Amino acid sequence: MRARVVSGMRPTGALHLGHYHGALKNWVRLQQDHDCFFFVADWHALTTHYQERQVIEHTVYDMVVDWLAAGVDPKRATLFIQSRLPEHAELFALLAMGTPVSWLERVPTYKHQISTQPGRDLSTYGFLGYPLLQAADILIYRANFVPVGEDQAAHVEVTREIARRFNHLYGRDRDEPVLPEPAALFTETSRLPGLDGEKMSKSAGNAIEMRDAPEVVEQKVRRMPTDPQRVRRTDAGDPARCPVWPFHQLYSSQETQAWAKQGCTTAGIGCLDCKQPVIEAIQREQLPWRERAENYLANPKQVHWIVEMGTERARTIARQTMKDVREAMGLSG
Ligand code: TRP
Ligand code: SF4
Repeated sequence: MRARVVSGMRPTGALHLGHYHGALKNWVRLQQDHDCFFFVADWHALTTHYQERQVIEHTVYDMVVDWLAAGVDPKRATLFIQSRLPEHAELFALLAMGTPVSWLERVPTYKHQISTQPGRDLSTYGFLGYPLLQAADILIYRANFVPVGEDQAAHVEVTREIARRFNHLYGRDRDEPVLPEPAALFTETSRLPGLDGEKMSKSAGNAIEMRDAPEVVEQKVRRMPTDPQRVRRTDAGDPARCPVWPFHQLYSSQETQAWAKQGCTTAGIGCLDCKQPVIEAIQREQLPWRERAENYLANPKQVHWIVEMGTERARTIARQTMKDVREAMGLSG
């Protein structure tokens, strides 16, 4: 049997190249030899965006289109929407009974997000429960693996602790653990910073979206800031100080990188010359995405159908787990 992988993504806007290189590309790879469950984490989005229902409402299906455009294959992977499965909420509630508050408070993303999102009041019960909800998402499918970037490792760790505690409290007389502990799957992903060198995000206005038109990509890259010390065309620059350089590292061959480095440090090329191969590489990468997206956008029913099928498939498994969980907790009498 193929090992099971579970991963979710929050619907908070159109997906950009950061999402693709940081997660989606890896999903496409994983689906080849894993039983993958990929879901729209709309409840998770509400933990931070509870005052912005429009964003969530309008991006759920768009996000699924972006997944499909990137090459996620609905014949191989199960795609669904978290909120269509109240079983996740039930497991969340049951796990909450025995989960110490301190375990949730010490997850690094908790304090970090509260302090870095001053515009949002995150002193809510729901936001504190974020990692517990995530644990429920994972444990309900008895996942073997959760693909993680560096920021999600702590969430998998607390998921393992929660599973261990559950099995200890309620499953001691069983041969198999009721909720098997998942492992973090550290796979190689590339982090692509935004146009200004900061973390790419739609809200920061420094993103290239997966579905940006070729002209838009060209404009955005041409306007990118470069090495601030390279003021005139005749000044030599240093790629290490330039936000364009990570794009070369991701998109360009060794030869092109050597050409750019040499040209930059000797003032042999201008910044627009340097950016041209990056522009072309992004446009080339987007080509198959655009083709697939157009097809799905012309057939919205097909997207709904894919999600419908996935949701029912997920439900079968989630129900079975909940049956075992209730029984283990003495709730099935
Ligand atoms: N917390 C994840 C993120 O922000 C999203 C998520 C929710 C998730 N539930 C999950 C990821 C379960 C993996 C498994 O990216
Ligand atoms: Fe950046 Fe390229 Fe310009 Fe050098 S030549 S500063 S690497 S854009």
